[in-house]
Amino acid sequence: MKSKLESIKGKAVREVKACTDLKELDNFRIKYLGKKGELTAILRSMGELSPGERPVVGKLVNELKDYIEDVLAKQKEMIEKTAREERLKKESLDVTVPGRKPLRGKRHPLTKTLDEIKEIFLGLGFSVVEGPEIEYAYYNFTALNIPEEHPARDLQDTFYISSAVENDDIVLRTQTSPMQIRTMERQKPPIRVIVPGKVYRSDDVDATHSPVFHQIEGLVVDKGITLGDLKGTFDLFVKQLYGEDVVTKFRPHHFPFTEPSAEIDVMCYMCKGEGCRVCKGSGWIELSGAGMVHPRVLERCGIDSREYTGWAFGMGLDRITTRKYGIEDLRLLFENDIRFLRQF
Ligand code: PHE
Repeated sequence: MKSKLESIKGKAVREVKACTDLKELDNFRIKYLGKKGELTAILRSMGELSPGERPVVGKLVNELKDYIEDVLAKQKEMIEKTAREERLKKESLDVTVPGRKPLRGKRHPLTKTLDEIKEIFLGLGFSVVEGPEIEYAYYNFTALNIPEEHPARDLQDTFYISSAVENDDIVLRTQTSPMQIRTMERQKPPIRVIVPGKVYRSDDVDATHSPVFHQIEGLVVDKGITLGDLKGTFDLFVKQLYGEDVVTKFRPHHFPFTEPSAEIDVMCYMCKGEGCRVCKGSGWIELSGAGMVHPRVLERCGIDSREYTGWAFGMGLDRITTRKYGIEDLRLLFENDIRFLRQF
């Protein structure tokens, strides 16, 4: 009996050490200490022993039982400890690892350029106002002295939203100039505003054309305003935008709502007039349409053209931006590809 118990002991020790989780350990416990377990079976069969042997064997079995309970408890502790350590390892965090940088939003290149331009005009005492993109033909054309039969009103150039609502067509504005009218209707001179915004023309999309683009309108009306003021203001503006050594040049032009009218070119800020890629070899860059507000336009807005004069300009924001950043394809400005936008 003694040797039997010895062999059970040896086997039990080997088996308990092989247990790697609590489930295996529980099976081990049942195998040796359970109701149908090996030790229980021996205790049950004690009746078959002689009365002299009983207390000796009983003592040995109980000692073995205590021993097995002991190694079982130790193994359980070890398994739990290992599990705890593993969990800790998994959950541990290294507080010295550098943090992940949050992705910072950037301003769109058009917004950056516009902010710069706004800042310059705000410094010159202008206010920034905005107007509707969906506009009456009256404001987009008629009040700007653009006659009914003018080609700009053609379907090929203008998106019509509906015709003859309240006796007028509704269009997507083709220019920011209708805000000249809205401003002068609302506000009496002195007026000094710039109006940035989207404009629409039914152009097909390619590298240099888009059916939606951006203009910035400027309007000044007061007593004694002259073409010289326009020239002076524009010179100041381009010097701040492009640098002190840059000059402007007025080319005669025609707009129905200004008289006289001009196109303002600015000396190429890249080559300073030599001719380069930015100015396509000419040394000059077309920047803006402009002119003295036509007296008829003033009168339509209830401003006495004998007392007041004014000037206006309208320039494209998109071209200024693409040139400034060397963007070769206008479409990039509108596609909002994050890989493109991140570069600014
Ligand atoms: N609205 C004109 C255009 O879109 C530009 C312009 C504005 C010209 C103001 C003169 C005065 O071409």
